[in-house]
Amino acid sequence: MAMVCLTDFEEYAKEHLSKATWDYYAAGADECCTRDDNLLAYKRIRLRPRVLRDVSVSDTRTTVQGTEISFPVGIAPTAFHCLAWQEGEMATARATEALNTCYITSTYSTCSVEEIVAAAPNGYRWFQLYMYRDRKLSEQLVHRVEALGYKALVLTVDVPYTGKRRNDIRNQFRLPPHLKVKNFEGVFQETSVPEEYGIPANTLDPSISWKDIYWLQSITHLPIIVKGILTKEDAELAVKHGVQGIIVSNHGGRQLDGGPASIDALVEIVDVVAGRIEIYVDGGIRTGSDVLKALALGAKCVFIGRPAVWGLAYKGEEGVREVLQILNDEFRLSMALADFDMAAQGGLQDDDGTNLEGFWPELN
Ligand code: FNR
Ligand code: LAC
Repeated sequence: MAMVCLTDFEEYAKEHLSKATWDYYAAGADECCTRDDNLLAYKRIRLRPRVLRDVSVSDTRTTVQGTEISFPVGIAPTAFHCLAWQEGEMATARATEALNTCYITSTYSTCSVEEIVAAAPNGYRWFQLYMYRDRKLSEQLVHRVEALGYKALVLTVDVPYTGKRRNDIRNQFRLPPHLKVKNFEGVFQETSVPEEYGIPANTLDPSISWKDIYWLQSITHLPIIVKGILTKEDAELAVKHGVQGIIVSNHGGRQLDGGPASIDALVEIVDVVAGRIEIYVDGGIRTGSDVLKALALGAKCVFIGRPAVWGLAYKGEEGVREVLQILNDEFRLSMALADFDMAAQGGLQDDDGTNLEGFWPELN
């Protein structure tokens, strides 16, 4: 079967994964309105292409937090890659290393951070962190990933509690016994507390608040990127608290159902932040023109969640590479067809001195 676009990988994964695993990856909260709107919102945006401007040379390189990556698509943190492919996160790490882009490793990995780094020693990686009731647990993870050469911490702030995913409840979703949340091996004793997504329920701290950003800053020198911001008010607070980046995200629609599509939320956030820190977005990106729309609306880089897992389910490392390569090829083509210039990101002047504002895609 020729894999032409990301939905080909989705169909493959749906066919080949067990029902419980597929349902877990696909899940959205409640009625899945926000999950589905993440995709539909991109389809509502129209581009204003310009023509006859020599697009024979195109360059997709960009930087995130000062590091160059070969194109503006990274891998969002998603849990449990070994459910999709035996080598799990090690395969994901190798694919992102090969394509020179950013891989945000989930706390809920089924390979340890040490295994991931050993599998792809030269990869560019950030680590996704949750805040635990036991702060020592968060702190130990931070020091561990710092020592391993992770370049930033991505603090996910939209999970004070886990969203209600109906199929996971129906399926009584559990990690199979041969898989573990490897970063926590030996941490949790056998307890009578029920397990939720591989760790004891109640481990996350729902009392987390802005002051915890200061705490995190006090224990690390790594840049801190807050993931899960959806309003201009919170974006302003994030800047005030001195973080280095924001991922506009609704967790792939898996947390609050009824919130905005992430691309719709991006606009007011870019506006209020006004270039003070980098803004990224995830959720619903399935084509190169989606990437282009996100960048044209002010995102520095986008991240993909589920599509990477579909790539894994298809062919491990090779599958993730294919997914990234297809997105990159599509992005490059859309860029040329719309005459989008990466250098123009952030409202810079075009080479003929025209302000590119008029080239930005517009919301209908
Ligand atoms: C996630 N996401 C997520 N986010 C996070 O911060 N830590 C995590 O462990 C996970 N785990 C996770 C598992 C699965 C199966 C999915 C689908 C998602 C959210 C993820 O980082 C990202 O926000 C969304 O996946 C983006 O949406 P798309 O690209 O899947 O549409
Ligand atoms: C999820 C959790 C693990 O979205 O973040 O499945």
